[in-house]
Amino acid sequence: MGFGAMRLPVSTLGGPPNDRDTGIKILQRAVELGVDHVDTAAFYYHQDGLAANEMIRAALAPYPPGLVIATKVGPYRGPGDPMPTGQVPASGLRAEVERNLTELGLDRLDLVYLRPGGLEAPSEEPVGERFAVLAGLREEGLIRHLGLSHVSHAQLEEARRIAPVAAVQNRFDVTLPQDTELLAACERDRIAYAPYFPLGGFGIPDDARVNAVAARHGATVPQVLLAGLLALSPVMLAIPGTGSPAHLEENVAAADLALAPEDLDALKR
Ligand SMILES: NC(=O)c1ccc[n+]([C@@H]2O[C@H](COP(=O)([O-])OP(=O)(O)OC[C@H]3O[C@@H](n4cnc5c(N)ncnc54)[C@H](OP(=O)(O)O)[C@@H]3O)[C@@H](O)[C@H]2O)c1
Repeated sequence: MGFGAMRLPVSTLGGPPNDRDTGIKILQRAVELGVDHVDTAAFYYHQDGLAANEMIRAALAPYPPGLVIATKVGPYRGPGDPMPTGQVPASGLRAEVERNLTELGLDRLDLVYLRPGGLEAPSEEPVGERFAVLAGLREEGLIRHLGLSHVSHAQLEEARRIAPVAAVQNRFDVTLPQDTELLAACERDRIAYAPYFPLGGFGIPDDARVNAVAARHGATVPQVLLAGLLALSPVMLAIPGTGSPAHLEENVAAADLALAPEDLDALKR
């Protein structure tokens, strides 16, 4: 079970900043509970200044051995923009990587995803030029592993011709049609698959199949959404996001929720 840091500085787009001390406690508690993968980005910040990377560094540095901090580059967020509005060109990616290194206080980033595209479904736009820049930075030792986020199977294959891909991060939750082809490719080649919006992203999905499994286990719906994801594939890594200490406890506990084969059949689409 991992942790997504996007909700630490601000819970909802355009909303007020969250409380920094609460966010720091959430990160520290997550690690205490065994979370060893934190997903972040330099563009996860509130316009007033509260930023996920700064909170991660304040909460967790010096980082415990084995903790993986994954970040993303690609999206461009200008001053005053509440969210990214475009893409950083290939020539700007080194500065993005260096910004993450500085903000997180690291000499090398564990995992850097290239995140092309906007909010629409992944496209077939070429990713090779920008991925090659990151591959070069990996060769230089600034990055340990490369990933891709919000990509099609064709984009994954294009990138893999340039350098190894350790992880894919696409939108997926168990109530959505499955990213079957891409997930199968990840399983075959032992690439981690970290779904973003594992809890629906815009509100917990109200899905009769998930609700029934939750009732059967006396578990919460978010717990079934997370346990269902983890049971779907050995390469699955959940990164639920929360700014709530109680939700963190609930979400991490979902890793211990053992779903029966009939539950998994019921969840399959
Ligand atoms: N690659 C990409 O394009 C991309 C896009 C989006 C996100 N991400 C990454 O993926 C991570 C996960 O996505 P996400 O955080 O946006 O969405 P999510 O995990 O699907 O859902 C988070 C939302 O669910 C709520 N929530 C969390 N746990 C809950 C619980 N136990 N009970 C009720 N509500 C709960 C949170 O509110 P509370 O704060 O009130 O708990 C928050 O509003 C992000 O943190 C980020 O690291 C990546």
